[in-house]
Amino acid sequence: MGHPLFRTKKIDKILRDAETMADDPHAGAGLKRVLTVRDLTFFGIAAIIGAGSFSSLGLAVFSGGPGVVVLFIICGIACGFTALCYSEFASRIPVAGSAYTYAYASFGELFAWIIGWALIMEYSIGNIYVAFSWSDYFTSFLHKANINIPDYLTCSYMEAHGAVIDAATNKATAITDSTRELLNAWSSAPVVGGLKIIFDLPALVINVLITCLVYRGVKESRNFSNAMVMLKLAIVLLVIIVGGYLIFQNGLTVNWHPVNEAGVKSFMPNGFSGVMAAVSGVFFAYIGFDAVSVLAEESKNPQRDLPRGMILSLVICTTIYIVLALVLTGAVVYSKFANVGDPLAFIFEPQNLNVGWMQTLVSICAVVAMTSVLLVFQMGQPRIWMSMSRDGLLPPVFEKIHPKFQTPSFSTIITGLIVGIPLLFTDKTFVLDFTSIATLFAFVLVCGGVLLIPTREKLPGKFNMPYINSRFIFPLIIIAALIILELTNKNYISNLFSITEDNASLNISTIIFWIVMIILSITTFIKNWSLIPLLGLSTCLYLLTGMTGINWAWFGSWLGLGLIVYFSYGYRKSKLIDAEK
Ligand code: ALA
Repeated sequence: MGHPLFRTKKIDKILRDAETMADDPHAGAGLKRVLTVRDLTFFGIAAIIGAGSFSSLGLAVFSGGPGVVVLFIICGIACGFTALCYSEFASRIPVAGSAYTYAYASFGELFAWIIGWALIMEYSIGNIYVAFSWSDYFTSFLHKANINIPDYLTCSYMEAHGAVIDAATNKATAITDSTRELLNAWSSAPVVGGLKIIFDLPALVINVLITCLVYRGVKESRNFSNAMVMLKLAIVLLVIIVGGYLIFQNGLTVNWHPVNEAGVKSFMPNGFSGVMAAVSGVFFAYIGFDAVSVLAEESKNPQRDLPRGMILSLVICTTIYIVLALVLTGAVVYSKFANVGDPLAFIFEPQNLNVGWMQTLVSICAVVAMTSVLLVFQMGQPRIWMSMSRDGLLPPVFEKIHPKFQTPSFSTIITGLIVGIPLLFTDKTFVLDFTSIATLFAFVLVCGGVLLIPTREKLPGKFNMPYINSRFIFPLIIIAALIILELTNKNYISNLFSITEDNASLNISTIIFWIVMIILSITTFIKNWSLIPLLGLSTCLYLLTGMTGINWAWFGSWLGLGLIVYFSYGYRKSKLIDAEK
């Protein structure tokens, strides 16, 4: 079995354990198997379309211009390959736990733990961003209805403090309405014991409500979620239709080739580096399709339906995003999206397309859309912990199922606290980067994991990922990509090595990326690896090159903390220790 850190859990054992748990009267009667392929697709869409499209898209458009569409396509392709890898795993190991369980079967316990730990960032920390965005739209909607919550109860302490520092050091480029509100929050906040009381009340309240709903059970949550997804899809389509119509009606297609600061007309006004700088926000918009896989133990026919649900939801959302990005960048010139937190409503403001009723409708829809995202992630996190607890890596209380509601009750409450408490101390930008880097990291390991599990015979009625031998194709793709880049961007390779303070993080990570690609090409030439997981791995690694050095530093610290927790508990308590004896 090798070193205990790399002890792997056999797929048969994972399936047997899940069956035993389902039959164990002390663990409750197991989770209810009620979800169909339609429910799973809806869960996928509920998780995917949310704060990414309603909130972080504004910053992404500002950074990349219309060229951000290219990043949506790259992210869509990366997520598509990754979804196929998730599907392969989900059809072989149809139990809750998602990427964590898959890593346990392929890379071994240490990597499984690392993934489980990284997924806390995707599920719980990601929900902090969504809760903040939810609150932004909710308070602006209340504001339109003439209900005003004091500014110091509608933003985070860090945001207000940051705005004051920016104003004092003249960093703020323009005083927008939202900056004014932050400054007002700081100056009007009550002071207790020398500390200004500033926190995001609506974000905290929605987190408590969602936690209660998830605690009560999946059936109620499913109906609630399905209704919200229908509404969300309808309104996003309306934005596309009304916005698209007005772009052509008003002759705004010129916005797709805007003039940049240097006076040059370009689809990518800030170059490709501007597009790549938007990677956290754009990738965040895609996070969620993988959440479908944690519902394995609640779906009626997981081996057939999980892959279908995941891929269907991803295809639908990718199409919507590409069109939505085109509508946004056509309706309003990219440079106007600076500091815009509600881009879909913004394009209908009087100075832009000027459609008042759409502005209100979009605000309501955003609140609905983000509620469904909160719900799905709040349901996913406890199910991952439940699997980790079954394996002995977390205390047994994490797998406890509520006797009446049949939900992982303790884990659900802890999730609520992990989302709720940092809401008091963090801000949106910080959690956005943190979530995207951790999720990409988990995706890399899932794609890599598929390369390591043994191939199996095709089984009718189950998802089977097509095997395409990449022995020659993959190295050829890598060589061709390098030649094309060198020919289209003169001196691409030598430019990578001229590192300055500004480009250091992008260039160093790109150099590491190409080195890894060369190593993968050689390995696949020897091992005949399958093309699809290899492309998933490569595209996700490529997206990671867009992360900054600070992102990596925070992520590294988080992983370091995870290792301390693992060695103090899971390493000693792992149930695989008994299996080895
Ligand atoms: N994709 C999800 C959202 O955009 C996380 O809110």
